[in-house]
Order: sequence, then C-alpha cells, then structure tokens
Amino acid sequence: MSMVFSSDLIEAIRNARSCLVLTGAGVSAESGLQTFRGMEGLWDDFDPMKLATPEAFACEPKKVWEWYQWRREKLPLVQPNPGHRAIAQMEKYFQNFLLVTQNIDGLHQRAGSTKMVELHGNLNRNKCSRCGIMIETLPVSDEVPPRCQCGGRIRPDVVWFGEMLPEAVLRQAWRAAESADLFFSVGTSSVVQPAASLGLVARNNGAFLIEVNLEKTELSGLFDQVFLGKGGQIMPLILEEIIKAKAGS
Ligand code: OAD
Repeated sequence: MSMVFSSDLIEAIRNARSCLVLTGAGVSAESGLQTFRGMEGLWDDFDPMKLATPEAFACEPKKVWEWYQWRREKLPLVQPNPGHRAIAQMEKYFQNFLLVTQNIDGLHQRAGSTKMVELHGNLNRNKCSRCGIMIETLPVSDEVPPRCQCGGRIRPDVVWFGEMLPEAVLRQAWRAAESADLFFSVGTSSVVQPAASLGLVARNNGAFLIEVNLEKTELSGLFDQVFLGKGGQIMPLILEEIIKAKAGS
C-alpha cells in the first residue's frame, strides 16, 4: 500500500510536541471484533437502547449481563493487530502523548500502550450497580447477574448511553485535546459525544488533524488529511513517517 503524505503533514509531525490519538471500534475490527455501526455492525442486530442503557439493565438485567458476557468471552480469543501496535509505538516519539479510546476491549493495553485513557470503561471490569464499588472477583451464585454484598446487581464497568463519562478521564482527554498539535482520529464514526467533540477542541486550538477510516465520516470535512483504508495497514505507515520525521528533527 502506498500513501501520499502531504508536506504539511510531514511538517506538522516534525513540529508536533503534543499528540492525541482518538480511537474507536474500527481499530479492533481487524482483530475480529465487530464495530457498532457500518457493515455488519452490532447495532444492526441489536438495539442499543435495550442493551446499553441503565434502564435496559434495570428492566432486563440477565439479558444485558449475558450480552456483555458474550462480548467478554471473545476477548481472550482475539489479538491486537498492527494498528494497535503502531499506535502503542507512537507514544515514544512525542513529548506529550495521550491515547483516548472509546473501546472497552483492552486491546490497546495488550499491544503495549501505556499513555492512555478509556472513555467508556473496560469490559473486563465489574462494579456494583447500586453502591458503585469495584468487584474484583465475581461471587459464585446461581443468580445472573450475581449480586454485590450490598444486594445490588453487579454490572460491567462500562459507560452506557445516558451515563456520565468518568470525570477525571474526560478532563484529561479534554486537556490533551486543548494542547495537542497533532490529532489522529482512527476507526471511529465520530457520532458519539463527547468523544466526537475532541477533534473540534483540537482544531479550535490549532492542531493538525488526521483521520483514518474505511470510509468518510460526518466529521471528515474537519480534518486536514483523511486516509481511507484499514487502520491496521495505515497506522504502521504513519508510524514509519513519524519515526523518519522525528529522526530528522
Ligand atoms: P462505530 O462502530 O460507530 O464506528 C466504527 C468506525 O470504524 C466506522 O466509521 C467504520 O467505517 C470504521 N472502520 C471499520 N473497520 C475499520 C478498519 N479496519 N480500519 C479503520 N476504520 C474502520 O464505533 P465507535 O466510533 O467506536 O459506545 O462508536 C462509538 C461508541 O458508540 C462506542 O464506544 C459504543 C458505541 O455505541 C457505547 O456502547 C456507549
């Protein structure tokens, strides 16, 4: 695959001290995890309002729990792909770097990312839906989902529609967007807020914006450069370019 890097992009990479990478479900598609929207998206087969809201959990806790268990069971069977790995390497080349992911699959960490925050929680963690305490080990129980000592039902520690994002994480992501010189949006449809606004924040603060996606998104017009294709193919090429630009600067 050959890609054209504009001289503006190379210059922006060379000069950038602060880089933010925002990722979505598209980066994990090549690992074999379904995205939510687009071709064969999860939300084609499932209604998010019936599975990914606190109301859905209150009405049908077993159904919601089992849907997340089904997604969880896939995680040990999949591996990070070259997109995750390239993004993990990127953190070495900028004074300030933050990966902000909407993904809850833990694949970025498994690929080696350390400077990162999870906006929507993590599928491998659980908490009590009543008292909020984190549950490290699920109690043995016939009940599905099992209950916390306080009697509340245990739920995955993920952010559902209608819920607030973890405040400290959101603040960190916002600050990084405000101070970024370089902003990458990779494999996200850019329709879910507030994540989708991070690019706007970066743009308003003068960052150079790059989008990597299979197809154009609603926000593509905002970006200085759009690469259409697979993250697992494009991100390693971008990493190469970063290594070259940083070696020369
Ligand atoms: P989406 O499923 O909305 O978007 C995935 C994007 O990845 C689409 O724009 C695809 O075109 C693109 N894509 C697919 N395969 C790709 C590949 N191999 N390389 C590059 N791009 C690819 O996923 P998100 O934007 O992450 O939230 O969705 C945001 C949030 O909506 C999720 O965190 C989840 C969902 O509902 C909650 O559940 C709260």
